[in-house]
Amino acid sequence: MVWQPTSDYPKRYGWKTPITAPGPNGGDMIRHMRAIQNDPLPYLEKVWREHGDVVQFPIPWPVYIVSSPSGARDVLVNFNRDMGKRTLQYTTLSLVTGFGLLTADTAEWKPRRRAMQPAFHKELIALTQSRVDEELATLHAQWMELTSEGPAIIDIDQAMMELALRITGAALFGINLEDDAREITEATLVALHGVIARAQNPLPFPLAVPTPANVRMNKAVKRLDRAVQSILDMREKNMLPEGAPIRDMLDVLLDLDEPLTAQQLRDEIVTFIVAGHETVASALTWSWQLLGEQPLLREQAGSDRTFAGQVFDETLRLYPPAWVITRRALNDVEIEGHLIPAGAMVIVSPWLVHRHPDAWQTPLDFMPSRFDAGVPQLGYIPFGAGPRLCIGREMARMEGPSIIYELSSKWNIEPVVSGDVAIDASVTLRPKHGLPMRVSRRA
Ligand code: HEM
Repeated sequence: MVWQPTSDYPKRYGWKTPITAPGPNGGDMIRHMRAIQNDPLPYLEKVWREHGDVVQFPIPWPVYIVSSPSGARDVLVNFNRDMGKRTLQYTTLSLVTGFGLLTADTAEWKPRRRAMQPAFHKELIALTQSRVDEELATLHAQWMELTSEGPAIIDIDQAMMELALRITGAALFGINLEDDAREITEATLVALHGVIARAQNPLPFPLAVPTPANVRMNKAVKRLDRAVQSILDMREKNMLPEGAPIRDMLDVLLDLDEPLTAQQLRDEIVTFIVAGHETVASALTWSWQLLGEQPLLREQAGSDRTFAGQVFDETLRLYPPAWVITRRALNDVEIEGHLIPAGAMVIVSPWLVHRHPDAWQTPLDFMPSRFDAGVPQLGYIPFGAGPRLCIGREMARMEGPSIIYELSSKWNIEPVVSGDVAIDASVTLRPKHGLPMRVSRRA
């Protein structure tokens, strides 16, 4: 039986949007508009609590959020052929990344994914491992200096962003981005911030109109472009000799059977910088926050590699960096007894799916041992699912746990203030005001 609206609902939203799932009424949504923009996670939770697993928003075009583990699987896996990526989220992101692997729609995406997949297999993961070790050694030396006279307070969020960026740069492009790290981080953040601000603004000016926000964003994109160009220039002087084993992702991009155009190359490089560092950094930051509250678990994370991996997995459950995944329905589909019409925008929020009682007991508790039996098939989608599953998943699941293990074994990383940390839910989930932590050497 397909769900039908009760008499509490209008006949349709706007002129022609049929109502096929319960949801908040228009007044309620307008009342919460500020909260939706400033602090969207509690609003998503409220909508799920009040209206259930498939919710339609009261606006004159069809927008749904699907939150049950099985519904999320329908959207991302079972109906993947009926779902495209031409959504506001990805179109806006493409202002920074262009149409690289993350934002490309199915037709352009398929051959590119096939061509790049091998690069993310074993060799590159092994290559990344040595880069992680090198960058950790650098961080270790920095912290030794910083703590020469006793414990130091650092913003662990900033430290993890810089560490993850250096590793991404080294693993994907074989170069040491250290000198440019701050420059690229800042340019990426400003550009992505601009993207989010645009997505939240119902009437953004075209980018060519020099509003202060547009000027800032255009400048940031230019800075990113310059950084990418300098990577390419360096590589031109240092091409891979015939028959030599690949050194990094850039070797692969430059050696595809069907060569990429300059624009495509730029788009993939920016995509990897954007997709590969803030996600990992965000997960690491929240790992320190969660471990900070539990000294015994912190101890274990520094002595047991498997457990460090479980800490990472469990952090990705509670604080999924990619907290919304969006799709555009290309055909009518039925999900959990609700018709989702062609053209609808469908949102899946890992934040909600990872807290769903169908898949998780005491979902709000931080319990790395949940993953003793491995990663569950249903209800756990920090890297998405189906054909568009994150291509960097294995790399991230090697990188994150190594960093947690190595840093926990050498350092005490303790909270400075206790209690909840306000979340900035933007491109990823980050602490709103940074995350100061006390770092001291372990005996
Ligand atoms: C903890 C770290 C990470 C998280 C949580 C994460 C999350 C995700 C998610 C949820 C998707 C799917 C989006 C969708 O279905 O619309 C995705 C796709 C993608 N990720 Fe990641 N990611 C992480 C690390 C990385 C790394 C390290 C890289 C690259 C070095 C990367 C590159 C990509 C790319 C290129 C895609 C698009 C794949 C495709 O559509 O073929 N990610 N990621």
